[in-house]
Amino acid sequence: MTNHVFRLLEAEGVPTHLVEELNDRETAVKKVEIVPLEVIIRNFSAGSFAKKMGMEEGIRLKCPTLEFSYKNDDLHDPFINSYYALALDLATQEEIDTISRYAFKVNEVMRRYFAGLGIELIDFKIEFGRYHGQIILADEVSPDTCRLWDKETHEKLDKDRFRRDLGNVEDAYQEVFRRLGIQ
Ligand code: TMP
Repeated sequence: MTNHVFRLLEAEGVPTHLVEELNDRETAVKKVEIVPLEVIIRNFSAGSFAKKMGMEEGIRLKCPTLEFSYKNDDLHDPFINSYYALALDLATQEEIDTISRYAFKVNEVMRRYFAGLGIELIDFKIEFGRYHGQIILADEVSPDTCRLWDKETHEKLDKDRFRRDLGNVEDAYQEVFRRLGIQ
């Protein structure tokens, strides 16, 4: 799914790590230095945002939000802002600007694409890398890193089925792949 989405994003002008899908288990990618920021875009309230803001899940936000977490397992990836990122030397201002611009572009492209498949893109997390001085999209985009809800039924088609012990995890992932035309 990552390769499928990354091809789409490349076509829309977002550079990614994708080089070539070698077979259904292996992909050649550009070897990046990962920027230690998790970049989260939200279109609807859900998960930690809904909890923090005391909101129900599934409320459309007036505009998409962007937030950063510092990628650090020992600290449980704490929420930070761009000033922290600069102060901790995690990224330069120019990199933060590029990352933010690409992240909103990724949202625009994915939101439109998933909407055409009857899926609401609630939120997602992406990561970027440095490659020969350029910022490119790396890591993955999948139901593990996005919240995807059926537009009509609001059924969860993502990792929340596993996180919240809702059952039918595989069926939900297969349904997403089926709509994407991957299998
Ligand atoms: P959150 O609501 O738990 O902060 O999650 C926001 C989005 O980020 C959601 O689509 C799931 C994704 N995510 C990851 O991919 N990895 C993570 O470690 C976390 C915490 C969230």
